[in-house]
Amino acid sequence: MPHDEKMRALLASFDDPEAAKRYGEGPRRFVPGLADLYRMTALLLAERATRNARVLVLGAGGGLELRALADAQPGWSFVGVDPAAAMLNEARRVLGPAAARVALHEGYIDDAPEGPFDAATCLLTLHFMQAEERTRTVGELHRRLKPGAPFVAAHSSFPQGENARALWLARYAAFAIASGTDPEQVEKMRAAVDAHLPVLEPEQDEAVLRHAGFSNVSLFYAAFTWRGWIGYA
Ligand SMILES: C[S@@+](CC[C@H](N)C(=O)[O-])C[C@H]1O[C@@H](n2cnc3c(N)ncnc32)[C@H](O)[C@@H]1O
Repeated sequence: MPHDEKMRALLASFDDPEAAKRYGEGPRRFVPGLADLYRMTALLLAERATRNARVLVLGAGGGLELRALADAQPGWSFVGVDPAAAMLNEARRVLGPAAARVALHEGYIDDAPEGPFDAATCLLTLHFMQAEERTRTVGELHRRLKPGAPFVAAHSSFPQGENARALWLARYAAFAIASGTDPEQVEKMRAAVDAHLPVLEPEQDEAVLRHAGFSNVSLFYAAFTWRGWIGYA
């Protein structure tokens, strides 16, 4: 199974229809520069993907990233995959008319069509997977891409040394509070991330992409506890 019991508890809100409806408010308060991360992702993919590219989006629930990519590139079509039905429903709502260009699949990477796709993304999602499952998942993403196709991954990834980890988690919380989130809710999130999220060091995450076969892997985004990379199949 892709997730163990602890992780399922952390992911429970994605399965809750009421929580999923509020999803859109959350990420920009926890992820500095989220709108620009989406904008840069579209620009990086467009360096190689043609105007009518077919793009695989893993962890597509909520629809924020799909909507940003669909708005940036009116000719692209998408396959979005996510295990949480409530988050897929929210994606349909957020997409509006752009939903006509998106096929949504409930499930994990193994439920994604074989492709081959012209590009792929996995945003704010790989941190939910233990290292072994992460490596397997990124390998399966790679297998579904045309040779040379771009892949963007961005997720929680920061130094894990004892002192550094606590300091960066404090900064993660400070950003969310400064962005207007209720401090009690932020503390719950910080504690949950600390206890359950299988965060890797940025160097380990980069190694996962290389191990899966991606070449020219480059860091393009670093914001407190978040990192983003572009690589090519
Ligand atoms: C924080 S949301 C990010 C959604 C979207 N990518 C965005 O940028 O807003 C994480 C999503 O990953 C999904 N998810 C969790 N584990 C997953 C897995 N193993 N494979 C695919 N999606 C997963 C969750 O259901 C949730 O919808």
